Amino acid sequence: ASTLGASAAESGRYFGAAVAGNRLSESGYANTLGTEFNSVVAENAMKWDATEPNPGQFTFSGGDQIVSWAQARGMKVRGHTLVWHAQQPGWVQGLTGNNLRNAMVNHITGVANHYEGKVFAWDVVNEAFEWDGSRRQSNLQQQLGNGWIEEAFRAADAADPNARLCYNDYGTDGINSKSTAIYNMVRDFKSRGVPIDCVGFQSHLSAGDNLSSYQSNLQRFADLGVAVEITELDVGGSGSAQAATFGTVTQACMAVARCTGITVWGVTDKYSWRNDDPLLFDDNYQKKQAYTSVLNAL
Ligand code: XIL
Repeated sequence: ASTLGASAAESGRYFGAAVAGNRLSESGYANTLGTEFNSVVAENAMKWDATEPNPGQFTFSGGDQIVSWAQARGMKVRGHTLVWHAQQPGWVQGLTGNNLRNAMVNHITGVANHYEGKVFAWDVVNEAFEWDGSRRQSNLQQQLGNGWIEEAFRAADAADPNARLCYNDYGTDGINSKSTAIYNMVRDFKSRGVPIDCVGFQSHLSAGDNLSSYQSNLQRFADLGVAVEITELDVGGSGSAQAATFGTVTQACMAVARCTGITVWGVTDKYSWRNDDPLLFDDNYQKKQAYTSVLNAL
């Protein structure tokens, strides 16, 4: 097929992009997104600060805009993210003990209920581990202890039992201390029946990164009985080196049966959160070498 989304669909996969709602009025942006991709994720609009700016007061306008735009075009929507140490509203940052626990569960319930039936997967918990495999000492970890991740997954499952519930992180692009700690957590969750369905590999990369164990890492997670997804792919660099790294990641997903899809973290270099031109389309929405490399690998 001649687009990323249609090519991914040939093997039952999706190919998505992170979207900022305020860019949808730009024709180049909307055309590229609508033509090339068959899935979207909100770059920021479904995060805690955006959806619950005041305690118990939910605002879904930004996320809803993206969902309606996608649904009108037959595109899928990933949910990102229910609980994270970053982009928390100010009122959450000062909470302690059970007040934070109740706020977390209430937030998950409110957002996951609202988007039930509209998102096919949720990043329930984002970035809870450090490079060395220890837990990140976030307010959640410090106030709620080790059990908070499990509590978050149980709350998400209660609110939306049909969505695929994912743990999502970066720096997990091979077999290393961090990915192994997450692997051990997922294995434990599966053995105890904690509801987890998938693991997201953000894959914020640079051209030439060593990806020698990227595929085997995806495979060992898949072998635990969870889906794996590439959730925030971008690769700093240019030309053939950038294209090669994008190709390696795409081939790895294609080679793992339970790798259900790939999302790149933006449509165009022009609006990337990074300044090293890490995406598949340049500032003028022209296809880069990396685009061809991905399309050929799908
Ligand atoms: C980033 C967005 O792209 C930026 O617009 C925002 O200012 C900060 O967050 N890991 C994640 C994403 O899970 O939510 C982050 O997105 C990038 C790193």
